[in-house]
Amino acid sequence: MKPQFSDRHLFDNLDVLARIGAIEGGGCARLALTDEDRLGRDLVVGWMKELGLDVRIDAIGNVIGLRAGCENLPPIMTGSHIDTVRTGGRYDGNYGVLAGLEVVRALNAANVVTRRPIAVAFFTNEEGARFQPDMMGSLVYAGGMGLNEAYAAVDQDGIAVGDELRRIGYLGAAKPGALKPHAFLELHIEQGPILDEEKVRIGVVESVQGISWTEYTVAGVSNHAGTTPMRLRRDAGYLAASVNLFARKTAWEMGGNQVATVGSLALRPNLINVVPNRAVFTVDLRNTDEAKLKEAEAKVAAHVAEVAAAERLEVEAKVLARFEPVIFDAGLVARVEHHAKALSLSTRRMPSGAGHDAQMMQRLCPTAMIFVPSVAGLSHNVKEHTEPADLIAGAQVLLNLMVELAES
Ligand code: GLV
Ligand code: MN
Ligand code: MN
Repeated sequence: MKPQFSDRHLFDNLDVLARIGAIEGGGCARLALTDEDRLGRDLVVGWMKELGLDVRIDAIGNVIGLRAGCENLPPIMTGSHIDTVRTGGRYDGNYGVLAGLEVVRALNAANVVTRRPIAVAFFTNEEGARFQPDMMGSLVYAGGMGLNEAYAAVDQDGIAVGDELRRIGYLGAAKPGALKPHAFLELHIEQGPILDEEKVRIGVVESVQGISWTEYTVAGVSNHAGTTPMRLRRDAGYLAASVNLFARKTAWEMGGNQVATVGSLALRPNLINVVPNRAVFTVDLRNTDEAKLKEAEAKVAAHVAEVAAAERLEVEAKVLARFEPVIFDAGLVARVEHHAKALSLSTRRMPSGAGHDAQMMQRLCPTAMIFVPSVAGLSHNVKEHTEPADLIAGAQVLLNLMVELAES
């Protein structure tokens, strides 16, 4: 019997998982290693066990459910993440993990024993919204970051990854990366507008753009907003505002795939009539082209230095994440395209604008991604939505490709 994909379970499970950390508007807040994340993890681990998977938790909290093959070979792995940003949607990450479980369900229902084992994984702290860098679990899995360095990462309240892993019961025994897949596939919503605008059903992802995250801490001098002449100000807030405008203007001027965002900004004392003496803000720069990304970084850094000197401010810059663009395995990318076309689904080759665990897994084994459309390109937003027919189409491509690879 040919494995058949069951849509009912996928929709039901997406719905049940979305109730954990549910926020107004239909979205989710399950920041990494919070109580909500633990409840989401417990739920998905329960589903893995119900499907007969051998569940392994590693020392950075990545969870892998393994379905044995008839030969003890490196598995075909799929997966993503179930943590969300604080104002996240219900599909980002969750869709890829739960669709992976549906691949297993379809194989179980058809009594298929594949040649290679099948693995479904969810990785710790993909979002990087609470702890940096993003894609932490998969980065450690791929050997790009040591455990102790990851454990020492702290959130804004000074709480460390290692302590939170232990607290929520997900500091596992397995060595990250011990199970090296034969191939890795990640099914994900696009999170951008291209597929929706062009009415294309499947995005064949060839690459992930480079990511540069920097946090600036600026020290100035607080003073009275009414009495301090402009020439005497040492306004930390002014630098933050100026960099925000500059980064945006730079991205427009550079064009291409360059994007720039100041997404977090805190001023102290944050009062209407006081010149701020402290500003902490972040700059997120991304580009598919490493040389251009470096150019954008250099321009922003020069602007920070120029304004800081003119305003007599002290500035500390801390790199929170820096990943070069990643090119996926060409052969595997072609198989994604093949299976989408075989299902008569329209396709488009594209880079990913967002960061993904797949970009780390490419360091370890041949990797590719499958994208489905995001309505109006909305993501990291409670209104994030993908049409049910597109969720099914993407999962069917994943199933067919995994079945092929599992026999390879
Ligand atoms: C992570 O999901 C990112 O792209 O910011
Ligand atoms: Mn994601
Ligand atoms: Mn995300």
